[in-house]
Parts: sequence; C-alpha cells; structure tokens
Amino acid sequence: MSLVDAARDVRERAYAPYSNFKVGAAILGTGGAVHQGCNVENVAYPEGTCAEAGAIAAMIAAGETEIAEVAVIADSPIPVSPCGGCRQKLAEFGKPGVKVTLATTDGKTLETTIGDLLPGVFTEDYMVRS
Ligand code: THU
Repeated sequence: MSLVDAARDVRERAYAPYSNFKVGAAILGTGGAVHQGCNVENVAYPEGTCAEAGAIAAMIAAGETEIAEVAVIADSPIPVSPCGGCRQKLAEFGKPGVKVTLATTDGKTLETTIGDLLPGVFTEDYMVRS
C-alpha cells in the first residue's frame, strides 16, 4: 500500500463531526514502519487534534523517532495544507529534505518537503541553557 493510500485508509476513521472535514495522514518512519493518524475533533473546538499530530503520536508510541516520508489527504479542491502547528511538529521529527505528499481524495497531489513547509524552523539551537 502506498503512503497516500495509508493516509486515505485512516481518513475513513477520522472523527470530524464539527467541521465535516476528514483528514488522514501517514508517516513512514526511518525504521520502515507506517504510522497512521486522523483528525479527532472535540465539542470544545480548540481541543481537536490534526491528522498529522495523530500520526506523529502513533510513530512515537511505536518507538520510532524519525520521519522518512509523509502523506496527508483530504476531500478538498486543492491538496490539503498542514497547519502551522503541524509544520512545527513535523519539523521536530523529520529533516528538511523529507518528502511530504499532500493529496486530495479525487487524485490531485502536491509534493513538497518539511523544509519548504516551514523555512526558518524554531529549533533547540535558539535555546540557551545554563
Ligand atoms: N486538519 C488536519 O487534521 N490536518 C490538516 O492538515 C489541515 C486541517 C483538520 C483540523 C480540523 O479537524 C479540520 O481539519 C478542519 O480544520
């Protein structure tokens, strides 16, 4: 199964009763396993979590810490764009050159990278520790 198909598969189980915008994400870890996540909304709107965050949580829970590739899919006119918070989350676990495929359920795709999604990422290099 391709990474986009893994994202398409988990999207079916997304819980998005408030926005009706279901998103699926799949992450290939550098160890070779695929980790899936979907958005999970909440009646207290800010408590919802994005598909990418779910896939990252699944990756960490499985004991992997480095992203090799990402795919995200939604039923949208143009390929879904990860939110700012998810761009930061992806950059925590993947190198700037890591491929990210943004897809629509009707077959459009846009290929980008973690670095292109978030240039000038905030890293621990900015943090001074005493
Ligand atoms: N959403 C994601 O899960 N990932 C994205 O890349 C874009 C947006 C979710 C958040 C919310 O549940 C719904 O889509 C509408 O914003």
